[in-house]
Amino acid sequence: MKKIISIVGARPQFIKLAPLSRHLRRVFNEILIHTGQHHDRNMSELFFDELAIPQPAYHLGIQGGDHAEQTGKMMIAIEKVLRDEKPRLVVVFGDTNSTLSGALAAAKLKIPVLHVEAGLRSFNRNMPEEINRIVADHISDLLFAPTQTAMDNLTRENLAGIAHITGDIMLDTLKENLEKAVHHSTILTDLQLIEKSYCVLTLHRPYNVDQMGTLKPLIKSLMGGTETIVFPVHPRTRKLIKQMDLKTSGSIRFVDPLGYFDFLVLQKNAKKIITDSGGIQKEAYMLQVPCITIRTETEWTETVRDGWNILTGFNEKKLAEAIASFIPIAKQNTLFGTYPVGKKMTDIIRKYL
Ligand code: UD1
Ligand code: UDP
Repeated sequence: MKKIISIVGARPQFIKLAPLSRHLRRVFNEILIHTGQHHDRNMSELFFDELAIPQPAYHLGIQGGDHAEQTGKMMIAIEKVLRDEKPRLVVVFGDTNSTLSGALAAAKLKIPVLHVEAGLRSFNRNMPEEINRIVADHISDLLFAPTQTAMDNLTRENLAGIAHITGDIMLDTLKENLEKAVHHSTILTDLQLIEKSYCVLTLHRPYNVDQMGTLKPLIKSLMGGTETIVFPVHPRTRKLIKQMDLKTSGSIRFVDPLGYFDFLVLQKNAKKIITDSGGIQKEAYMLQVPCITIRTETEWTETVRDGWNILTGFNEKKLAEAIASFIPIAKQNTLFGTYPVGKKMTDIIRKYL
């Protein structure tokens, strides 16, 4: 069987990998590299357990550090594995430093690179992810675009010739696990929540959470609202929240990051989702829950166009208004393709190899 190496390292990549890996292993010898970028049990191992992802053949244990340090260390370690393993294809996902280092290391060894979730553009180069995406797309040999918008971006950048619209692999993960999650999760009872009577909040974009002067007013304004807000706090955000010395948590319920099953159930039963995450904007749409995005732009523009996602930026008034009154009225479309996306992707890879 032809050898493929998939490279992952951060929470959303485990979630994207799970269904694709299952399809790949039917026809290829797929092995995994975990860079170590996310390493807490509830940011990494828990997803391998819940989603039955095979154990990584290589765990590089690289975490923290600034961008160059993190990316550089990953490249050095990945290059060594690729030289030893000599795969026919390297698969990278999304837009993290694990994506960038994997794509760069492989491309320089002239090993073909496949980028899953290609063509996403926020057109905001202040986001490290935007740089990672652009570089990954332009050094890849095969691109899987999740949406028509992504494909249009690739066409504009003269990359259409190596690109395919496949649909979004996170649709598979959601479809394959929702029922299981509803069956297994006790999160609503654990947190004593009633369906559709609370909002979910996640924040981890550096421009929202790295400065006390930005994060504290945001948290304070949300604490003062009337809606109960459940907030699984990302490790990046945890550091500043701990330093805030909040006298009361007001209407916010701070909890640790949740596993995929618990988080799906929490999202599905929420009145609204408030987030700056990429993946969560899509899941909110797929679960038909109104989404409020604390950003001024998004890569997932179709969710906004369809009326299910609203961008408030960092504007307390707009945010409060959206929490109080944003109600999508439009019918949904098939934005993210059709199930099973992983099978479609595997068929294209078979033809390519
Ligand atoms: C990374 C990705 C981002 C993605 C996000 C998903 C980059 C540049 N950013 O951001 O695109 O949206 O993952 O969640 O690749 N930490 C822990 N424990 C963990 C994970 C992280 O303590 O399990 C700490 C790290 O040590 C670091 C901070 O959180 O100090 C940020 O982690 P890092 O992986 O560098 O970036 P994220 O903000 O998680
Ligand atoms: N997620 C999770 N537990 C949480 C928060 C998020 O399982 O406490 C999942 C969520 O369902 C989605 C993914 O993590 O599938 C999104 O990852 P994240 O927001 O970290 O990164 P992004 O998508 O912004 O890159």
